[in-house]
Amino acid sequence: MTDERMLTFIHSFDREKPDYLNELEQYSLETNVPIIRPQMQSLLRLLITWAKPVRILEVGTAIGFSALFMSEYAPKGCHITTIEKYEKRIPIARGNFIQYGKEHDITLLEGDAVEILSGLPDDGGYDLIFMDAAKGQYIHFLPDILRLLSPGGILVSDNILQEGELLESKYAVTRRNRTIHNRMREYLYALTHNDTLETMILPIADGVTLSVRRQMEEKDEQ
Ligand SMILES: C[S@@+](CC[C@H](N)C(=O)[O-])C[C@H]1O[C@@H](n2cnc3c(N)ncnc32)[C@H](O)[C@@H]1O
Repeated sequence: MTDERMLTFIHSFDREKPDYLNELEQYSLETNVPIIRPQMQSLLRLLITWAKPVRILEVGTAIGFSALFMSEYAPKGCHITTIEKYEKRIPIARGNFIQYGKEHDITLLEGDAVEILSGLPDDGGYDLIFMDAAKGQYIHFLPDILRLLSPGGILVSDNILQEGELLESKYAVTRRNRTIHNRMREYLYALTHNDTLETMILPIADGVTLSVRRQMEEKDEQ
């Protein structure tokens, strides 16, 4: 969404990642596995450093790049639970977690997030939830995501502007995309009009929402 020259300028200030993350990023680019872009990497790094989450939930593991990335910058003792349904990617992600010594810090749950999320207990909730799966399904995940997000917790959703297509007239997109776009608009409305959340839509990477769950006292005071 951001102008290319502006992006190049911004990324010229990026801090180096560990070599293994650079290699995994390169592998993902070469094999067309979608992973978080540099702007999302910077945002997650900042949020994790700031919020020091103890429990992170990710929807959409792919081959584990973002889970490993978050684990790299998370405080000691932080546990990440990540969900993936694509059988071809699951063993690669699992292998990567073992290869980089993170199999005890990251739990990979296999299957469709709609079912898995509904079965997760809300014992304390998650301090940070990262949504990076099928965009048309975010709205279906939302009731469980809200149940699982702890007070003060942060919800980050990626790819919410669909390469800018979400702004196009509904007549200019295919029927399938129209359905996805309608659901995404519904999701954005639900996030921005939910009294328990404070949400901002950021036009960075492919469009990101940042939501914070209000603490109970905050809500009562309003
Ligand atoms: C953009 S990729 C995730 C990239 C990853 N977060 C990273 O940056 O390294 C999205 C992943 O979500 C998975 N996915 C999509 N819908 C899903 C669902 N309903 N349940 C579980 N996984 C899903 C896809 O198979 C795909 O691997």
